[in-house]
Amino acid sequence: MPRPDALYLKPNVVAEPLFNQWYAWGMLIPPQTAAMFTAFHHAPTMRSYLAAPQAHAAAVKNPEMVGGPYVDHGGGRTDEIAALLARTERDLAGPIEFARGVKELVALLKREAKGYSLEPLYAKLPEALKGRVELVYDLQHRPSFRFLESLLYRTDVYDPRRQSLSLSLVDDDYRPFVFSTPRLPDDRHLWLNLPFADPRVDELFAMRGAPAPFEQIRDRLGVGPDDVDRFRRFFTAEAPPPPRRFEGPGVRVRYFGHACVLLETADVSVLVDPCVSYDYPNGLARFTYADLPPVIDYVLITHCHQDHLLLEHLLQLRHRVRHVVVGPQGTGALQDPSVKLLLRQVGFKSVIELGELDEIELPGGSIVGLPFWGEHGDLDIRCKIAHLVTLAGRRFLCAADTNNIEDRLYQQIRELVGEVDVLFLGMDAAGAPFSWIYGALFLEPLERKMDHSRRLRCSNNERCVGLVDRFNCKEAYVYALGLEPWLTYFMGSNYQADSPPIVESNLFVENCRRRGLRSERLYCKKELVYPPA
Ligand SMILES: [Fe+2]
Repeated sequence: MPRPDALYLKPNVVAEPLFNQWYAWGMLIPPQTAAMFTAFHHAPTMRSYLAAPQAHAAAVKNPEMVGGPYVDHGGGRTDEIAALLARTERDLAGPIEFARGVKELVALLKREAKGYSLEPLYAKLPEALKGRVELVYDLQHRPSFRFLESLLYRTDVYDPRRQSLSLSLVDDDYRPFVFSTPRLPDDRHLWLNLPFADPRVDELFAMRGAPAPFEQIRDRLGVGPDDVDRFRRFFTAEAPPPPRRFEGPGVRVRYFGHACVLLETADVSVLVDPCVSYDYPNGLARFTYADLPPVIDYVLITHCHQDHLLLEHLLQLRHRVRHVVVGPQGTGALQDPSVKLLLRQVGFKSVIELGELDEIELPGGSIVGLPFWGEHGDLDIRCKIAHLVTLAGRRFLCAADTNNIEDRLYQQIRELVGEVDVLFLGMDAAGAPFSWIYGALFLEPLERKMDHSRRLRCSNNERCVGLVDRFNCKEAYVYALGLEPWLTYFMGSNYQADSPPIVESNLFVENCRRRGLRSERLYCKKELVYPPA
């Protein structure tokens, strides 16, 4: 029996993870990428705001510019931004020096690595990089380098003291876009300065379902007297409905919005790319945290883009997740940080790497990793994987943003793995310019026309139909378009009826239905139940 003074965390408490007051996503955890984003995205964005705050305020109001590098503080609070910039330059001097060193290293390689031994260059490396990068050639004798990433996490380039959680209450769907605006303190938000890996994060979020005395969590989190009243607003005596697992028979599939899909049997639960709506009375019907099972056996992460690996939701679920399955570790290249190392650093104990055609056995089924080509600007990125999940004899392919660039790949895959019953596929057929995600990591400028030619595109109608035919799918669902109204905080898209993802997905659904498949573009909420095959 819970104590009479025990309280629950309210279902509409938002918990934004922050890194140095910026919304934390996958690239802000690995030391090498966090350093690059600090030096070449955050600091320049703050300088730009300080130089022309009103220009930023005007850009933020233009729906076409949502997702651009514009600070959303209404042209004001410049003193606080200037102070944050100064603090950044002081407190993150080590990572900034490291990031600048990476660019110096590139200049050094360009100047001196001409096909001869790279050994003499180690002595010429910037101090911040010495002992932390290996210099290499490829077989075309082009110089490059790789980071010793697991070592970097143990140096001053990684500083978990810059991590915090910002709690607030949400009562409707709209949340401003988060990636371009550093957070500043206000009355609505309470910051908890604790590293993401801290076990007290689990104690707090476990209170969504299991009550605890307010004084206990307050003491544990060190909330000071000035903040107690604000902190208390996040708790309630009202018990949420108890979490229920699916008891079968067969498989139940629930779509939570964007790329988040839950597959359950009586024996196992699998949650793909977690992104879960908070619970508040307004708006369209949807699944929320209350609709997840008490224990999630496997979380599957398809790739490290900010709309698929969402630390905000992963951290809140960590206490009920048994294993996380991620793509394979890459080669130590700047653009391809290890998601396994990243998640271990933020407190996940069991992180399993799944390579292409690797298999994990499940009770009554399996997960097979399938190649996920495209949608990464033609960069050499290994840490991405699609999942073929077999449960109760039914086969589900969660293909995320896979771009079916080459059907011969799937011809071979089909021969190896057989047919697929149900396909989930992203269809952002236009995609953002690839600098939108990777620009802060660029080591040399890229011409605009090249940036556009390498947009982060998923499959179009024709390529999706190719996949459906190749795998002889019975059902095909378009997902991962970020259409749900509660996703405004991480989706910079502003789709109209004639936007390519809408046009192409309409055509695709039509094509599938003409072929006799069940098909739709998923929106907000969907539940599918399949008897055992
Ligand atoms: Fe993506």
